[in-house]
Amino acid sequence: MSLRDKYVQSLRSLSEQQQTSVTIRWRSPSNIALVKYWGKHGNQLPINPSISFTLSECATDTSIDFSKKQGPSSRIDLQFYFNGEENVAFATRIKNYLSSILDICPYLVKYDIRIESGNSFPHSAGIASSASAFSALALCITSLEDIVFQNLSADEEFRKKASFLARLGSGSASRSIFAKAGWWGQSPYLEGSSDEFAVDGSGLLHPVFENFQDSILIVSADAKSVSSTAGHQLMAYHPYREGRLTQVHRHLGEIKSALQTGDLEKFGTIVENEALSLHALMLSSSPGYFLVTGKTMNVIEKIRFFRKNSSIPCYFTLDAGPNVHLLYPKEHASAIQEFIEHELTSDIKNVLFDELGNGPQQLV
Ligand code: DP6
Repeated sequence: MSLRDKYVQSLRSLSEQQQTSVTIRWRSPSNIALVKYWGKHGNQLPINPSISFTLSECATDTSIDFSKKQGPSSRIDLQFYFNGEENVAFATRIKNYLSSILDICPYLVKYDIRIESGNSFPHSAGIASSASAFSALALCITSLEDIVFQNLSADEEFRKKASFLARLGSGSASRSIFAKAGWWGQSPYLEGSSDEFAVDGSGLLHPVFENFQDSILIVSADAKSVSSTAGHQLMAYHPYREGRLTQVHRHLGEIKSALQTGDLEKFGTIVENEALSLHALMLSSSPGYFLVTGKTMNVIEKIRFFRKNSSIPCYFTLDAGPNVHLLYPKEHASAIQEFIEHELTSDIKNVLFDELGNGPQQLV
């Protein structure tokens, strides 16, 4: 039986608490993938496992008022406010998402749902927010379920369900549920790993990674010309698909050992290779496209030059966009800040200083 079927069945045997209205609020962070999720199949299942660092500062705060409807209802009724303003486009995406999980969360139709959401980072920063947004939303729904059915008091079960629901909204969101690091996708390298939900990856981290920094160098804040969802689809018939799958499984084994042993050089080699491979896959898709700009390339070259001359272990990665994430241990923070100020100001618009975080936080 699939996990989805198990979740559908398990609620049927539980009795429901009489809840009239409740407000639930979660702050959930974004994450940056070290080994990338690129390509999916079926219902939001990844073609390969991925692992990410969970961030601290880049987060979404989502507050949901669930008010019990008077009569019976079979549909989702919701209002969505982003940064204080009603946002119909987001409301439609969320309504579609909630409708798609109604077999798992049938109780949602019993409430008028009012969602207020906002990001801790500037809206125009060009940072992917689907991971923080969908993980915050999924956590609110999971909390509602626990209030109504009192079935998720065990932390592990709660996170598993939240990650499962987050994944159905946006794949990378499944990993944001966990402090420090999340691993999503079934792999022999991690016991208990699954394609249906992410698991805690923090146990893999050598102390050298505990205080890792991520300085996000904003090259452009413009909307992406091709969405990640469209990019994932292009992997279905990608000419290099088999090669990518071989590469990504090798990278997972290698990064696991680099994370465990604290081998920064090996870590950096894999992380940078993953970033460049991701964008090479976009270039060689059909149709091909690119999201990096000349400035992205300048920044990457300067990082490599700086690393060579300073011997400071700092490594870049990219998500599906032009902005560069610079990863390094905290002890080098002031040298890196100086490097950014002296060398990169002509290439970047802004920088967001982030670091590994402790995962989502329930606010109400
Ligand atoms: C390049 O999770 O945004 O950031 O599941 O379609 O919402 P959907 O895609 P999304 O893809 C993220 C792609 C990536 C790599 C990663 O985060 O692993």
